[in-house]
Amino acid sequence: MKTISVHTPSASYPVVLGRGALARLGATVEALRRDGEVYLLSSRRVWRFWGRELLRRLRHVTRNRVILFDDRETAKNLATVEEICRKLAKSRADRQVLLIAAGGGVVGDVAGFIAASYLRGVRIVHVPTTLVAQVDSAIGGKTGVDLPEGKNLVGAFHQPEAVVADPVVLETLSARQFRSALYEVIKYGVIGDASLFRFLERKMERIVKMDYRALEFMIERCVRQKARVVKLDEREGGLRQVLNFGHTIGHALEALTGYSRFLHGEAVGWGMLGTTLIAVGLGRIDEGSAARIASLVVRCGELPALPSISPAALFSAIAGDKKARNGRVGWVIPCRIGAANIGVAVPDRLVEAAWRELPHFYAHAHREVTA
Ligand code: GLY
Repeated sequence: MKTISVHTPSASYPVVLGRGALARLGATVEALRRDGEVYLLSSRRVWRFWGRELLRRLRHVTRNRVILFDDRETAKNLATVEEICRKLAKSRADRQVLLIAAGGGVVGDVAGFIAASYLRGVRIVHVPTTLVAQVDSAIGGKTGVDLPEGKNLVGAFHQPEAVVADPVVLETLSARQFRSALYEVIKYGVIGDASLFRFLERKMERIVKMDYRALEFMIERCVRQKARVVKLDEREGGLRQVLNFGHTIGHALEALTGYSRFLHGEAVGWGMLGTTLIAVGLGRIDEGSAARIASLVVRCGELPALPSISPAALFSAIAGDKKARNGRVGWVIPCRIGAANIGVAVPDRLVEAAWRELPHFYAHAHREVTA
């Protein structure tokens, strides 16, 4: 088990990482608790698998203060936030309260936003139970909910008191959910950690089978990189945008398919491939490195097929992304394995060419990997 410190201008906190972290959750929370009450926020889904274990570790501090809510993306909204805040208010939770959010990205985003806004801010500990949450969303203080007009349109930056990430909880994820997070892990390798990328190239088959030693190393590298990025740019003024590699096309794909065809990570997987092609078109990355990225993406597992989407529809979805300014996006473009440029302007004709080439690029990499 390891502790990695995250330091941002607004807060410093530990990420307790590795097998055994969950067993020590009670002690971790006890050390953070002041004289306020502790509320455990989770979802019914997570509770089915981990409720007994969480209560075993936390009953002495939470007593019966458990609030379960719907963690589907469709329930990640202000109505859910209001419902939970009212439960807290009815039971007279005061400013000393400590929230514990146990779950995946939706639980963390909703509970985090409640922590940022209930009584103008209370403390929270994240216990991420999905791989995406462990390597990304539980760290760095982004919180928020969706509006009918788009994802994460209402939110706040609010850093937790601690993050407790135990890979043992990943065993109850479906294979598809688990694999979809690996695309985000590849992202970390491409944008800033060539040695993580090489590790993934060597160990991908073990990782897909959930070898704990490999998982722990991989999660640690991602957490360290995220900690480095949010230390330098907590509120995404610049550098933090690098974490959006693959997300411009990924978000557009999710929106164009009604958030139902792709898991987020899978859309990012396609997005990274498309953006890598754009990088080749711009002459920023060599074809050998592009082929390595494609090969690693393919080795995570089969991506759901791309639906037929016209370049015009793609452009319109990209312009609608909340990160676009006046309809233009600053792309995150890899320049080699382990480094990327942010805020790159890309001519439409290159995006269109990459979009047309994308299914062939994937099919070619697939043939190479399975040959
Ligand atoms: N998930 C991207 C970020 O935290 O900035």
